[in-house]
Amino acid sequence: MISSRLARVEESATMKSSKRAKDLMSRGVDVINFTLGEPDFDTPKNIMDKTIEAMKAGETHYSPAVGLPALREAIAEKLRTENNIDTKAGNVMVTPGAKHGIFEVMMTMIDEGDEVLLLDPSWVSYDACIQMAGGKTVWVPTDPENKYQPLHDLSKYITKKTKMIVVNTPCNPTGSVFDKSHLQEIADLANDHNLFVLSDEIYEKIIYDKKHISIASMDGMADRTITINGFSKAYAMTGWRLGYLNAPASVFPSLEKIQSHSISNVTTFVQYGGLEALTGPQDTVMNMQKEFKERRSVLVDGLVKLGLKCDMPDGAFYAYPDVSEFGPGARITDRLLDEAQVAVSPGIAFGESGKNNIRISYATSVDRIKEALIRMEKVFQ
Ligand SMILES: Cc1ncc(COP(=O)(O)O)c(C=O)c1O
Repeated sequence: MISSRLARVEESATMKSSKRAKDLMSRGVDVINFTLGEPDFDTPKNIMDKTIEAMKAGETHYSPAVGLPALREAIAEKLRTENNIDTKAGNVMVTPGAKHGIFEVMMTMIDEGDEVLLLDPSWVSYDACIQMAGGKTVWVPTDPENKYQPLHDLSKYITKKTKMIVVNTPCNPTGSVFDKSHLQEIADLANDHNLFVLSDEIYEKIIYDKKHISIASMDGMADRTITINGFSKAYAMTGWRLGYLNAPASVFPSLEKIQSHSISNVTTFVQYGGLEALTGPQDTVMNMQKEFKERRSVLVDGLVKLGLKCDMPDGAFYAYPDVSEFGPGARITDRLLDEAQVAVSPGIAFGESGKNNIRISYATSVDRIKEALIRMEKVFQ
C-alpha cells in the first residue's frame, strides 16, 4: 500500500521524544521542553507589519515559481556581501523553508543507488530525504575530541557512486562550527572527485566566537555547491515556512521544474516578510544571539557541574553532552522525562555515533534552564 520510497524512512526520533513531552504537557504535567529546534522569540514586528501591508495591498496571487524578483535580488546581494559567494538573483530560488529546499535538491540530483556522504551525527532530515530520493547514505565519522569537526581524510569513503557530500555548519545537533581547514579539505575532495556539496547554513547567524564560512566561496566550489539557508532560525520565523537555495546553472532549471510542479510558489505575501527581514534593521538578530549566548553558558556550565562531558558549542542553540557515565543516551532521555520532567532528544536520532549523547535545545529562558538543571540532579547523581 505504501510506496517503497517511504517505507524506508523511519519516523523522526526527535519528533517521537517531543511528542511524548507534548503528551505529558497536555495532561497538565509541567515539562521543561528542550526538544524544540525553534527560537522561542516572536518574529520581529517590522517583518510582520510589512507582510500584513503586502497582504492588504493585494499581494495574494501566485508569484513566479522561483520567488519574487526583489527577494531573489536581496538574497543574492546577501550571499555576495556576507558569504562571499559569486552569484546572482538568477541562481536563487525561494523555497517553503530550508527543509523543503533540501528535499527538492535530493529529488533533483540523487538517482537510485547514488551515494551521499553524511557526517555522523547529522540533523535527522538529510538521511530521510536521501532515502526518499532512492539514494544511499554513507555515514562518515566526525571527531568528538575536536568538537565534532570532520575527520581529515574522507577520500576512503568515496566510491564510483558517490555524488554528494552534505555539510552543515553551524551544526545541528553538535553546535560545531567547521574550521576553514576542514572545509578546505572537503572542497578539495569535491573538486578532485567531481562531487556536489549541499551546504546547509541555516544556523549561520547563531554563532558565538567564531566566523561562519560558506564552502561555496572557496575556489572551484560555486559551480558544485548548493547553499541552503532560510529565515526560521535567524529571524524566528519557523512557522512562516520561508527559506532559499543558491544553485549553479547546471542544476537550477531542474530545481525550478520540481518547485513549479510541487508547490507552484512560496506564499506570496510571506515573501515580502523575507524581503523586510533581509533589508530591514538587524538589531533583533543580534539581541537573540546575545540571549542565546547567555543561555549557552548557564546550561553548559551547569551540565559540567553535574558531571557530564560537554563542550561549549560554537554555534546553533544545542548542547550535546556525552552521558555515557550514567547510561546510554536513549535511556537517559527516558529517565529525564519520567523522573525529572525534562524533555531532551536522544543523540542516536542523529546517527549511530550519538548513542552516548543527548541533545538539549536551549531555545528556552534562563530561568527554565536553571530549574531544569536542579531537576536533572535526580538523574545525574
Ligand atoms: C540543520 C537544519 N536545517 C534545516 C532545518 C529546517 O529549517 P526550515 O524551518 O527553514 O525548514 C532545520 C530545522 O530544525 C535544521 O536544524
